[in-house]
Amino acid sequence: MIRPVHKQFGKWLQASLFGALVLAPLAMAVPPGTKDQIKARLQPVGSVCRTGEDCGSAGPAAASGPLSGEDVYGKFCFACHATGASGAPMMGHADQWGPRAAKGIDALMQSTLNGLNAMPPRGTCATCSDDELKAAVEHMLENSKG
Ligand code: HEC
Repeated sequence: MIRPVHKQFGKWLQASLFGALVLAPLAMAVPPGTKDQIKARLQPVGSVCRTGEDCGSAGPAAASGPLSGEDVYGKFCFACHATGASGAPMMGHADQWGPRAAKGIDALMQSTLNGLNAMPPRGTCATCSDDELKAAVEHMLENSKG
């Protein structure tokens, strides 16, 4: 049996109308604020640091990357090298660092890695890489010039 065309058209029209009048408004009837909530959920965990923003040095990248000479000094070396404990040459004192600097960075690194008298091997930072220790030595030398 062949259905009258207008009846099929009527069904199609019904379906389209249903879509246009019922589904579309439903889809648009997102409660206020929801879009912002979705936006917030899409943000990565932690704060987003965009180029050009000052996000401090405590970001995830800084925490997992190599320590700067200043960081290593501040965490490990300063205990002796800021106070002169056990006769450690103090940072900022050119007279104490001058003769040591004259030995050259390679000799200073030997002392740093292996220890020297009361100077403990690796300056007590067992987890520091050679590069990090070298950066710390350079940091002290840089800040101990006359
Ligand atoms: C427990 C104390 C102590 C800590 C911590 C320490 N030092 Fe020293 N350091 C010394 C003493 C003491 C000397 C002097 C040793 C000597 O000449 O007899 C010294 C000397 C040095 C020298 C000169 C070595 C030379 O050949 O003249 C360097 C370089 C140095 N320390 C680097 C570091 C670095 C880098 C750190 C941190 C990673 C560090 N030290 C942490 C006590 C310390």
